[in-house]
Amino acid sequence: MKHLLCLNDWTSEEILAVLDLADKLKYENKNKIAHDHHLKGKTLGMIFSKSSTRTRVSFEVGMHQLGGYALFLSSSDIQIGRGETVHDTAKTLSRYLDGIMIRTFMQKDVEDLAVYGNIPIINGLTDELHPCQILADLMTIREKKGTLKGLKVCYVGDGNNIAHSLLIGCAKTQTNISIATPKEYLCMQKYIDIAMGIASETGSNIEILTDPKQAIKDADVVYTDTWASMGMEDEKEQRAIIFAPYQVNEELFSLAKQNAIFMHCLPAYRGFEVDKAIIDGPNSVVFDEAENRLHAQKAVMVKLLSD
Ligand code: CP
Ligand code: NVA
Repeated sequence: MKHLLCLNDWTSEEILAVLDLADKLKYENKNKIAHDHHLKGKTLGMIFSKSSTRTRVSFEVGMHQLGGYALFLSSSDIQIGRGETVHDTAKTLSRYLDGIMIRTFMQKDVEDLAVYGNIPIINGLTDELHPCQILADLMTIREKKGTLKGLKVCYVGDGNNIAHSLLIGCAKTQTNISIATPKEYLCMQKYIDIAMGIASETGSNIEILTDPKQAIKDADVVYTDTWASMGMEDEKEQRAIIFAPYQVNEELFSLAKQNAIFMHCLPAYRGFEVDKAIIDGPNSVVFDEAENRLHAQKAVMVKLLSD
């Protein structure tokens, strides 16, 4: 049984093979070459305990394009929202579905679904990780830059789910990554250690910094994310003060390579983590990233759900 709980579940070869398949599915999609045989008759359950635009729509449309069916399950409507255990939910849903995509708070809940169920589980974002986003981002970087190996990715901002998955994704694909966060909002040490361990085998260079100017120097890719993730909305004002030096604006972005691309998983908050001139400017690829969620996740579903 294969899952996607964390990018570290997969080898570098498996990740690159999924990116190749995503490219193929994108080509077929653009050229109207039908590929709805892949998941004919399969059903994906999509459990959401947090809001979503891209994840929900791209999984649902992707499943449709592959010939299957996707079922939206808001946690406030199913019994898990009233206290039914992850154990019982996993056992029950395994009797109906061919796979589950889940967006929730605790990474442990996603891991428990995989332990107790007997169908593939896909992590659609937790407080700690967002592997599907980073697969789409690696696909986008490769599309724009022609390669991943040896590039310098810079992430500035909160040491959050995106930062953790980006660290692991870069380490797996021989991409160098420099992360700058305020010292109060560092990445979790657990994920830094995992990424460092992978990098010692693949040769990626990883830098964990607090100075955004140092991190962004000569970067090929500049990435940021909201300063207040879902569930932390109450901290938005207080965080805005500490994070101010980490805003990606024209001054900071000018320190990256001249042809650097700007990335953001979205939703974005203009005037906070990124200035309008950058996210709406010529180097921004944020809507290509959003589009590639569809293609990358179709590849994930073919890998995990097809016979
Ligand atoms: N990037 C991302 O996961 O977007 P949604 O929250 O809209 O799904
Ligand atoms: N870090 C953000 C990502 C949203 C896709 C959050 O968790 O809200």
